[in-house]
Amino acid sequence: MAIVDNPRTLDLDDIQGMVSKGYGKLYKTAYFFLKVDEAKKAKLWLKEIAPFIDSANIKNTSEKTLHLAFTPSGLSKLGLSQKNIDAFPTSFVEGVSTENRNRILGDYGDSDPQNWRWGAQQSDLDILLIFHASSVESLNAFIEEQKGIIEDNGGITIVTELKGFLTEDNKEPFGFHDGISQPIIKGSGRPGPENDIVETGEFLLGYKNEHGQYPFSPLLEENQGNLTLLADDIAGSGKKDLGRNGTFMVFRQMEQHVDKFWNSMEEKTKNEDGSVNEDAKIKLASKCIGRWPSGASLVNFPDADPGGSLDNDDFSYADHDPDGLKCPFGSHLRTNNPRDSFRWYNKEQSLKVSKRHRIIRRGRSYEMPVNGNEDKKEVGLQFICFNTNIELQFEFIQHAWSNNNQMRHLSNDIDVIIGVPPENDPNNKNVQFTVQAEPVNEYYDGWERFVTIKGGEYFFFPSISVINFLSTL
Ligand code: HEM
Repeated sequence: MAIVDNPRTLDLDDIQGMVSKGYGKLYKTAYFFLKVDEAKKAKLWLKEIAPFIDSANIKNTSEKTLHLAFTPSGLSKLGLSQKNIDAFPTSFVEGVSTENRNRILGDYGDSDPQNWRWGAQQSDLDILLIFHASSVESLNAFIEEQKGIIEDNGGITIVTELKGFLTEDNKEPFGFHDGISQPIIKGSGRPGPENDIVETGEFLLGYKNEHGQYPFSPLLEENQGNLTLLADDIAGSGKKDLGRNGTFMVFRQMEQHVDKFWNSMEEKTKNEDGSVNEDAKIKLASKCIGRWPSGASLVNFPDADPGGSLDNDDFSYADHDPDGLKCPFGSHLRTNNPRDSFRWYNKEQSLKVSKRHRIIRRGRSYEMPVNGNEDKKEVGLQFICFNTNIELQFEFIQHAWSNNNQMRHLSNDIDVIIGVPPENDPNNKNVQFTVQAEPVNEYYDGWERFVTIKGGEYFFFPSISVINFLSTL
């Protein structure tokens, strides 16, 4: 696929760096959930740390980074008026755990928000502070320094602390290389395959998206704070735009049941004499993901894992795998980004539709003791993604693609990695995964859920100038 130029047009110094940078060498992460106790002091703290927020400018190659995100209650406690909060999209104002969202995202049963350890409209979850650093030592030193600033300043309390990490080979807990396929923001200055370059407005507010429109950005309905820090609404309403150069962040803590995952693959691929077929087990798991454990794509390497670092993203389906014989239609990869190959559209139309539902993923693995017992570990993914329209991007992917058993060229297949069949639907009890094959397809059924949601929330991830604006309210 041809690599095309992507001239820089964006003000990268105003955009929080995590939107465009994966910090692949900053292996350690901490997430602090903060409660605002006293607005005045909290705003002084914001002002003090704002200069240290890492920007999207690639010239910044910091050994440690700091980022900030806000919930509606955080914005309100800092002094943003209710009228201005109501100008935000409903998904953000309502939060991730409403009855309707639980239904469409599949947050029921073990994943019911009532069982979550954080989020679920938690009233003291106001601000999220994210740290990345290259080692445990530098992360801890950074955390201590920041805790000191918080304590000296007063006005905010740390209510929950979570950790995350990348392994050096960037493998998630099931053992697959993650973080390979990402869209590239148009205007970011980063060249890449044409198929991956996506209109700015899919990821940053205040720019046109893949529909040719400006996404729903929170405009200031009543004036407050230092207005000179805000951009004008680019669409010409005459109002100030709180959104420009910012975006929305989805955060879901997803426990991964690693033993269940591999036992299930093993059971389904045993030889006739009952012995384990190691190759078949890994192949089925890879078919479910859509890449081999090394990250190599099934489209480029359909028969076996080539190992090494052949984990590129340089493939599409329409020309090289139209019938899913290499990468199954129901695989996690093909479900969550069908690229140029939909049942209903031609190549160009398919690519256009796929580009309207992409997300920038910034997830990291986690490991934590179960009930304080260091010998028993819960493992999983701190799933984070950025998008300007949560309904059309994250929620659409989870609901209309991963949880939908009618989306593919088959019936009753959901994404067995993250999909959830509709609750209480007798026709959907028998979740199936089809491996397209010749002369006949192979069907695998009787799947359990390999992922449980343990927490989550939607956040506003503003530009650096808007963070400064919030400190002037
Ligand atoms: C524990 C849960 C999850 C696991 C284990 C997981 C694992 C993976 C792996 C191994 C890849 C391949 C590496 C890559 O292409 O970057 C991948 C890709 C991807 N995942 Fe997930 N993932 C999880 C949750 C999610 C969720 C919740 C979503 C969105 C709702 C999602 C969306 C995607 C997308 C869009 C891709 C890239 C597809 C492409 O462009 O080809 N994943 N995931």
